[in-house]
Amino acid sequence: MPRTIIEPFKIKVVEPIKMTSREERRQCLEAAGFNVFLLRAEDVLIDLLTDSGTAAMSAEQWAGIMRGDEAYAGGRSWYRFEAAVRDLFGFKHVIPTHQGRAAERILFSTICKPGDVVPNNTHFDTTRANVEATGARAVDLPSPHVRNTQLTHPFKGDMDVPALEQLIAEVGASRIPVCMLTLTNNSGGGQPVALANVKAVSAVCQRNGIPFYLDACRFAENAYLIKLREPGYADRTVKEIVRELFSYADGCTFSAKKDGLANIGGVLSTNDDRLAERERDLLILTEGFPTYGGLAGRDLEAIAVGLEEVVHEDYLEYRLASVRYLGEHVSSHGVPIVQPPGGHAIYLDAAAFLPHVPPLQLPGAALCAELYVEGGLRGVEIGTVMFGRHDPTTGEETAANSELVRLAVPRRVYTQSHIDYVVEIILDVFRRREAIGGFRFTKQAAVLRHFTARFEPLYPLA
Ligand SMILES: Cc1ncc(COP(=O)(O)O)c(C=O)c1O
Repeated sequence: MPRTIIEPFKIKVVEPIKMTSREERRQCLEAAGFNVFLLRAEDVLIDLLTDSGTAAMSAEQWAGIMRGDEAYAGGRSWYRFEAAVRDLFGFKHVIPTHQGRAAERILFSTICKPGDVVPNNTHFDTTRANVEATGARAVDLPSPHVRNTQLTHPFKGDMDVPALEQLIAEVGASRIPVCMLTLTNNSGGGQPVALANVKAVSAVCQRNGIPFYLDACRFAENAYLIKLREPGYADRTVKEIVRELFSYADGCTFSAKKDGLANIGGVLSTNDDRLAERERDLLILTEGFPTYGGLAGRDLEAIAVGLEEVVHEDYLEYRLASVRYLGEHVSSHGVPIVQPPGGHAIYLDAAAFLPHVPPLQLPGAALCAELYVEGGLRGVEIGTVMFGRHDPTTGEETAANSELVRLAVPRRVYTQSHIDYVVEIILDVFRRREAIGGFRFTKQAAVLRHFTARFEPLYPLA
């Protein structure tokens, strides 16, 4: 067997990357207030801001776009979409939404009330916000292994099952309208959840009469990591593993912008007839008729084809190998990353990368800026800018628990040489890390400040 894992596709359409000089990037960054969110995407060479909605579609998906049936009700594309979702997820009711958070809003606003508690291995930020918007409390119960960023445990995305049992004993099952598991655990480092953990959480929920849902955004990457890492699954197909994963759940939310290999779309699914009826009533109010749910017929087609393609094992082998390749190459040169590399992203540990920059001087923001100036890379800070707090009356600043920079790899977009380039840029910045200093805010919003903040470097930027 050849050792080189190649991209299992040929390129039919290309999108040029605008090459920029270091001086041009410096000017762009300054105009963006040193916040990479505020850059124009065309001024970025390799955009690792997110893997969500950024996938390249296949020739079959583009053909599906042309086949899209735009009938308001009962279109062909809807039936194709419904069949593709049901084939993998297996739930009775398939409710289309324009993206994942719309599915979350409809689910939580239907089943949660003030005083309720929703456990999850780790809530994604929109999931948490939608739970909390109903007056319920979102509780994260991640595996204790997550705290040790250097531990290479195979399933750091697991939920802490004893902590779930303790929570149920404390608050009572009647106050827990749903328990979620996020596959893979995005906010917990893109780490997978073991099938054994899915089964264990499902069993606890069943014993206590609590509906169990998957946040299934990256279900295929999680299933392939189960095949690679969990004893007893090496000879099972990814599709079989996916079906087994979903068989333990009562429903799911899903953003098709990740493992749907599409640029937009989502799904809410359940086996519960009465709940589905209430959810469809809400869907009609804000998303649209239940056979399109905020999507065009062509989007439904693209997702239906994407769901067939995403469980191809040659695709998943290449996908996970390219993220692993990036993580292993930089860490073999001493660059501190969260171990092991996640399914869709690597996370640079900015606090260890720049140990001389204190958290309140925003090492993650400085690292993002330096990666952009060095080579036009765009990542996202997940640290004090995103999760720290600013008290506008006292001016007091509180740091986050960790300082990470996430580099998320879009699906089927970049080739091996792009990833080699990313490695080279990270290593170039790492070599001159002692000359990098901190940042301070010059402008910040009261909520979600990371999107619009502006900064000033406290040192001469390279
Ligand atoms: C784990 C997880 N859940 C939910 C969402 C929300 O999906 P969307 O962006 O389609 O609203 C995301 C998006 O990144 C996610 O990663």
